[in-house]
Amino acid sequence: MEVTVRFASPRDLADVAKIFENSFSGGYRYWSLRLLRVLDVLVATVSDKVVGAAEIYTTNVEGYGDVGVIGFIAVKREYRRKGVGRKLVLEAERVFRAMGCRFSAASTREGNTASVRLFASLGYALYKRGDKVFEELEAPLYAYEDDVIMLKALSS
Ligand SMILES: CC(C)(COP(=O)(O)OP(=O)(O)OC[C@H]1O[C@@H](n2cnc3c(N)ncnc32)[C@H](O)[C@@H]1OP(=O)(O)O)[C@@H](O)C(=O)NCCC(=O)NCCS
Repeated sequence: MEVTVRFASPRDLADVAKIFENSFSGGYRYWSLRLLRVLDVLVATVSDKVVGAAEIYTTNVEGYGDVGVIGFIAVKREYRRKGVGRKLVLEAERVFRAMGCRFSAASTREGNTASVRLFASLGYALYKRGDKVFEELEAPLYAYEDDVIMLKALSS
């Protein structure tokens, strides 16, 4: 299975919305869809079909410099556990590096095993509510509904 990751074009956004709708509920669903036309979007395709997506942005945080943030990431159910999420994260990191970011970060619920393990497997450190790093990054990451922040230093 050949997976390609690229920036989304406007005509990909309906497919991305469908994947987010099927992957998230509550506030996560609302914000992932609400921000679709606001944030940059990476899509993963297989045979030109969109099978996964990540919404990304960068923000400057005191003490961290420019931080690349993976706001929402989701993969179509039947394509999960095939390395698509990993490819999306690695491409986001490449984009962040090219933009001069020193860190890549994401946040999730501690119980989201797939997300936590995906980021941990790529070298992200985990910080929980109460940790200094969590408190410093909670606002820039809009991690108010989350209880774990995942952070990786990007080598240039
Ligand atoms: C999180 C998510 C994007 C992962 O995408 P994916 O394409 O299935 O992930 P990958 O196949 O690249 O997995 C990479 C590694 O992550 C870990 N992982 C992924 N899914 C896992 C699961 N369900 N259980 C345990 N580990 C998992 C594994 O270490 C995996 O490597 P391996 O398959 O070689 O063991 C996907 O599960 C998803 O869309 N979830 C719903 C939306 C969501 O919760 N997004 C995150 C919060 S914004």
